[in-house]
Amino acid sequence: MNRLGKMIQKHIEPDDTVLDLGCGIMQATTDIVGVKENLKCKLIVGVELVSKYLDRIKDKYPTINTDVRNTNLFVDDSYDVVICTDVLEHLKLDDAIDLLKEMKRIARKKVVIYTPLLMESNEENVHDGWGMGENELQRHQCVVPHDALQDLGYEIALADIDGGNTFGVYTKDNKYQSDILPKNTTTSDLFGSHAGGSKIRGLARKLKRKVSSKSKENERSLKVAHKLWDDIGNKSLEETMEGICDGWDKKTFDNSDEFLMTEVNIQFKQSDKVLDLACGIGRACKWVAPKVKSYTGVDFSEGMIKKAKEYNKKFNNVTFTKNDGVTLPIEDDYFDTVFCELAYQHMIKDTQIKNTDEVFRVLKKGGKYYVQLPKLDFYKDDTYCWNESELAEHFKSYSTWKILETSYKFRAYFTVEAIK
Ligand SMILES: C[S@@+](CC[C@H](N)C(=O)[O-])C[C@H]1O[C@@H](n2cnc3c(N)ncnc32)[C@H](O)[C@@H]1O
Repeated sequence: MNRLGKMIQKHIEPDDTVLDLGCGIMQATTDIVGVKENLKCKLIVGVELVSKYLDRIKDKYPTINTDVRNTNLFVDDSYDVVICTDVLEHLKLDDAIDLLKEMKRIARKKVVIYTPLLMESNEENVHDGWGMGENELQRHQCVVPHDALQDLGYEIALADIDGGNTFGVYTKDNKYQSDILPKNTTTSDLFGSHAGGSKIRGLARKLKRKVSSKSKENERSLKVAHKLWDDIGNKSLEETMEGICDGWDKKTFDNSDEFLMTEVNIQFKQSDKVLDLACGIGRACKWVAPKVKSYTGVDFSEGMIKKAKEYNKKFNNVTFTKNDGVTLPIEDDYFDTVFCELAYQHMIKDTQIKNTDEVFRVLKKGGKYYVQLPKLDFYKDDTYCWNESELAEHFKSYSTWKILETSYKFRAYFTVEAIK
């Protein structure tokens, strides 16, 4: 087993069955190169079109001699993990995309892929991949773009710097595994997935369980969410920071980028009145307050508001106010700009809509609302996530709205600018 094999092993339990699509000579996962260590799993079945490769391994492992595109051989959820390493690039892009979809269907738990980041001219290697003679199938035909992988729900660990490859993992039922991120990945590098990290998503799941009964579900969900956030807000400052975003220590919290402001380049004027909705401890205040006339932070957690006041006490144009989670204690037509970051993914859709409508009320005509809405494609839970097609209805009271372009780190959200 080589270095790639070890990366794959992290996603495979000893009891898992594995389908290796385009297995070649199983060089990554077995001891064929002389390293006496094989992938630890219950069973590994190799699929490969080139029979001379299978000749090398078929005494040891069950194999199927066919084209990897013949996925109709496999029924839904038939292997725990499907792996496909150094294969997608040998297909036409459309076929690669189809295969990525098919692997999701076949896997019970996960799909693991590994493919080059850039188009490589590998003409020289085509005829002698593993010293086993000619094989036209070794020619590279595509690069699978990260966007396409993400759209299909694959999480991408950062590119493998040495080899220039993408290591991607699709986890069925969106049991997101934060351990696929390399150790040195910072929160701001990969913010989208971090906000989907286990702790925060744990809250979302808890919320969902509690609201599963039909009656009074909106009211109850708000109560549950309120209690969860108040518990976090009432901890020590460091623990609250960590609770706001998994893995953040005080230094990260104080010094991280401005996020939404930087990402979508919100333009503030010195005369502006600005609202930070679901402000937490007012992380954004220190960047906004110096640029505007007044900054108001609203959050439904009393603990957060108390900490926000303390954390931002050096500013004299700021106000922090507790609200009830759906209405704003502010007069109509008041703010020039409202923004809300890293918060809607903690509210069920009904609460999000009520907040969006309240923001409309407190915005001046022509005022702008910047907000991140959790993507269904990413979190896979329609209790609180949206399809793009639903957004027009969500923002129907606004005169215009659009989805803004953001970087990879915000891939978990639709970042929307809506204008009253
Ligand atoms: C992950 S924190 C983000 C805080 C802040 N926006 C930031 O980026 O640092 C989510 C915040 O949303 C607040 N929150 C969640 N649901 C809310 C609601 N319905 N109304 C007001 N605040 C809410 C929580 O109390 C918490 O402070």
